[in-house]
Amino acid sequence: MKTLTITRPDDLHLHVRNGAVLTTVIAHTARQFARAVIMPNLKPPVTTVAQALAYRDEILQAVPVGLDFTPLMTLYLTASTTLAEIQKAAECEYVHAFKLYPAGATTNSDAGVADIKAIYPLLEAMQQHDLPLLIHGEVTDDACDIFDRERVFIDTSLTDISRNFPDLRIVVEHVTTTEAVQFVQDAGDNIAATITPQHLLFNRNALLAGGIRPHHYCLPIIKRESHRLALVKAATGGNPKFFLGTDSAPHLTSLKETACGCAGCYSAHAALELYAEAFERADALDKLEAFASFYGADFYRLPRNSGTVTLQKNVWKVPAAYGEDSVSITPLKANEELGWKSL
Ligand code: NCD
Ligand code: ZN
Repeated sequence: MKTLTITRPDDLHLHVRNGAVLTTVIAHTARQFARAVIMPNLKPPVTTVAQALAYRDEILQAVPVGLDFTPLMTLYLTASTTLAEIQKAAECEYVHAFKLYPAGATTNSDAGVADIKAIYPLLEAMQQHDLPLLIHGEVTDDACDIFDRERVFIDTSLTDISRNFPDLRIVVEHVTTTEAVQFVQDAGDNIAATITPQHLLFNRNALLAGGIRPHHYCLPIIKRESHRLALVKAATGGNPKFFLGTDSAPHLTSLKETACGCAGCYSAHAALELYAEAFERADALDKLEAFASFYGADFYRLPRNSGTVTLQKNVWKVPAAYGEDSVSITPLKANEELGWKSL
């Protein structure tokens, strides 16, 4: 049977929530990934080092005994973040970055930043402390078409941030467009991007054609085929600026399958399998290891992991849902077949 063994990977963009959802989802990530960059968009958001440390403890408590998993904590940047908190974060070995959500851009982003220029002094401090800034790169202007929000953000905010802070390490999270790929490629080595499995596997037809599919709804929204092709090329091209970040974002099935469904795809149940499918289709399985296990660690200046994970060519059917009835979460490709299975 065909197998693929790679160095144990890292997920550089992950939502695990807290409470019952956390305990439902964390083992999926911990059995495949050695580390994950944990997003801070809880309710209330994780804005201080003290909160991040408490959240880290909660995550570690939820990891099943026997699995070796390290959460890499991030802080949620707000207009009231203080320079002292940035200094504290820089000095804390468990905090690895700040996350910038434009206010209102996505799930639990109400506390995000409304006026990005107003927080430039904070970005200056991050640059000085060499703390990476992770950006949800979408404008929130109601007048801007949802399919254009990433492209417009590049022109109205990202270009200016990158010019003003040439040494600030920036991860443009979950890139979804040709323009974002181009921006990252053309930028200095301090700017990189994560790419999700859903944006490599699906175009917007998978969301809207032949019926509306809420489990394919995430932000930034899935784009047309030409963008998907640009993302596949970036992910499989061996460029260290592009690395794995699932953006696995669990929501209760009841909150997805409703008149106004939440944004977020749950992919942690089969993260590597989904990426393997995308890389195999591009005839680039040999590029998966560096994308999944090397480039992200290098950018975050972490040692590469030791140990390996093995995927086997083995068709299996993804369950309809994970979790007990009260926390039922519908995964990506629910009730569908996947061609790879991790051992
Ligand atoms: C994420 C979530 O649910 O927290 N949702 C999503 O659609 N990706 C937030 C985010 O990363 O935008
Ligand atoms: Zn996310």
